[in-house]
Amino acid sequence: MYTQALDLPGVQATDSAVTEAPCVGFDEKLAADIKIEPSDPMPDAYRKTLIRQISQHAHSEIVGMLPEGNWITRAPTLKRKAILLAKVQDEGGHGLYLYAAAETLGVSRDTMVAALLDGSAKYSSIFNYPTLSWADIGVIGWLVDGAAITNQVPLCRCSYGPYARAMVRVCKEESFHQRQGYDLLVAMMKGSAAQRAMVQEAVDRWWWPVLMMFGPHDQDSVHGATSMKWGIKRFSNDDLRQKFVDATVPQAEVLGVTLPDPDLKWNAERGHYDFGAIDWNEFWQVVKGNGPCNRERMAARIKAHEDGAWVREAARVHAEKKTARQAH
Ligand code: 3HC
Repeated sequence: MYTQALDLPGVQATDSAVTEAPCVGFDEKLAADIKIEPSDPMPDAYRKTLIRQISQHAHSEIVGMLPEGNWITRAPTLKRKAILLAKVQDEGGHGLYLYAAAETLGVSRDTMVAALLDGSAKYSSIFNYPTLSWADIGVIGWLVDGAAITNQVPLCRCSYGPYARAMVRVCKEESFHQRQGYDLLVAMMKGSAAQRAMVQEAVDRWWWPVLMMFGPHDQDSVHGATSMKWGIKRFSNDDLRQKFVDATVPQAEVLGVTLPDPDLKWNAERGHYDFGAIDWNEFWQVVKGNGPCNRERMAARIKAHEDGAWVREAARVHAEKKTARQAH
């Protein structure tokens, strides 16, 4: 269903899906929970919100390959190396499905990639933190992929068909990613005192940035209410964050690690865990490009794009030759 096609330089995707006319059937389909498909009329603001979210999501998957890719050559065993390789390749695949889903809305891949590289498009804050030890690979699987699943399972029910369908496969693979991370940490926690200390130190560094992945509090979420009205998001940022905390605390207990939050405690009245205040100043600094690794991540993506110029050129020449042959 989704192509791996490369855009040809200079060839822009058409904006055929844009319509200012009344979107006949749009509200009725939303109300009946029927998917909106690329050829259906849709409000321009709906289309733009989807392009923003899906392209940012795709960028996150692609940039997300970098922190873990950093450890492929240093994985301690052949088994762990094979798992990590498969996981990082999966993330690349997720980026491609998501770019393809966004392309169905009439935006070209060139445009999306250019927005990432010139810094005008966002990607997830979490990938601007460094991976300092092997335990980080386990903690990313357990917590980062665990948070990603919590956020992304409801996206399988997103009102836009191509995004929802892409998310089904993404979530299945994310589930494997989360389990391999937890499995890695269980192995380390059964190991030496130094290994257990390494896991705890990694949990201490990642816990708060992972909670930030869900985005600002609902009252500061500029798109949240509209996206929920349109069935793009099914739960608010705070609801998903709470769901993640509630699911993760028992997992931490089984693992034998302490989550670094003195305010984390069960609230019987609410039926949820209470947790401490998130440092939103840190979050916005990271989002604005001032996190520990933002510059390094962007430099790596720009270099990869430049190194791939010959592939795009070869595809362009091949397409020209094919067109010329067909003209004969
Ligand atoms: N990092 C960077 N920017 C973030 C962010 C984060 N963690 N959370 C929110 N923002 C940005 C938003 O993009 C928005 O900026 P914009 O107007 O320039 O687009 C602004 O902060 C305000 O936030 P809102 O709550 O209003 O934005 P949304 O309604 O779009 O909600 C979201 C943010 C929850 C991230 C939502 O876009 C979403 O669910 N996206 C799809 C999932 C996704 O992109 N996940 C990224 C991680 S992918 C991943 O983890 C891969 C895995 O393999 C590990």
